[in-house]
Amino acid sequence: MLKGFGKDFLFGVATSAYQIEGGNYNDWTEWEDKAKAKRITKLTSCGNSTDHWRRYKEDFSLLKKLGINAYRFSVEWSRIEPQPDQWNQDALQTYVDMAKILKNLQIEPMVTLHHFTNPIWLHQDCPWHSEKSIERFTKYAEKVISALCPYVKYWISFNEPVVFLLGGYVDGRMPPGIKDAKLSFQALKNILLAHQEVHSIIKDHCNKDYQLSIAHNMMEIRPALVFSPFDHYLSAHVDQFYNWMLVDAFATDELNFTIPTAIKGKAMLKLRDTITFWGVNYYSRLFMSFAPFNPLRFNFLYKDSSRNGLTDMGWEIYPEGLEYILRKTYSKLNLPIIITENGIADKQDIERTKFIADHLQVLKKCSTDIPIKGYFYWSLLDNFEWLHGFDPRFGLYEVDYNTFKRKKRPSADFFTKLAKGEIEI
Ligand code: FCB
Repeated sequence: MLKGFGKDFLFGVATSAYQIEGGNYNDWTEWEDKAKAKRITKLTSCGNSTDHWRRYKEDFSLLKKLGINAYRFSVEWSRIEPQPDQWNQDALQTYVDMAKILKNLQIEPMVTLHHFTNPIWLHQDCPWHSEKSIERFTKYAEKVISALCPYVKYWISFNEPVVFLLGGYVDGRMPPGIKDAKLSFQALKNILLAHQEVHSIIKDHCNKDYQLSIAHNMMEIRPALVFSPFDHYLSAHVDQFYNWMLVDAFATDELNFTIPTAIKGKAMLKLRDTITFWGVNYYSRLFMSFAPFNPLRFNFLYKDSSRNGLTDMGWEIYPEGLEYILRKTYSKLNLPIIITENGIADKQDIERTKFIADHLQVLKKCSTDIPIKGYFYWSLLDNFEWLHGFDPRFGLYEVDYNTFKRKKRPSADFFTKLAKGEIEI
């Protein structure tokens, strides 16, 4: 048990289906294929990834060795429903098996229903910007929830809806590759309505002590030039959009979606009572600078302002920013918080131990006045990092992508000592 955080504190690691399972075919796979056809060689194919789908039992024994008491993973919609209303019972049963094994190992499963990927047919028949998507997702969610409920208490409906939206609907570098601010508002509204449906299903099917949230990517956002009023305006606006739009929607039931010069959307929703905690994915700090000749009129950048160093992704290591995020989130929502992701790409495993210790230190400091209920390190294994392919190495375990062998990194030993209460932060 992690010392100094209370006996029910969840201390674990997080993964997502597409990034580790291998052998999936969904909108990302199609995206990779299209990129290949257009000879955009930079986009790596996920392919067999870490082969986790065939090796999950072996991987779960690694979880046990780590000594942790919780594991966050996601279910791949395109496996469960490869075609509309065609259900793959074997795939569903595999996820049930996963949850059962975790329970037997006394590792609390936290299940994410949507982690960026979608079945290809979704974008053709009922994309997220059409209302039909809500019904489609609800059907899938109902299948998964009713099958896994006996073993699963912790649920995440959507991972990082704002990131999905920015990548898939604003910037267009991620599937479905749409660049349309108006549609992005519709898509977010539908995602949040689908979340509401997930809540109703969980309320109907699961034990009363269920736990539900979304996992929201949050960053400290600052002006690149302290003396630039433009950068200040920009960073305040991006901070509101990126961090607080969703928090405010859950706190007030009102979604205010503003992209200056493109859209000002407003929707009344019923979100307030749908969550029991708030999931924070925290990685870094972002700087904003005004760029009049850029189509978006801004640039964002990471820089080593704090002199803590940059990760292999080029992200600033900035544990201090987590305190700001936690305090402001709690002041708005007044709900327990779980760190659903926090991690570092560090191939040499030089910074990882300190990275984890420093972030836990911030959590410890904040726990005196904020109910912080868990911490999930991203990630158990090296995995497919979306647009960056297999280069970034986030794992406590290194993966050899030729042999699929897993090799423990030294930081995993540190994590285990923490998990077993042999050392204290
Ligand atoms: C998060 C994503 C996760 C992983 C990490 C590094 O934003 O949720 O899938 O890619 O970043």
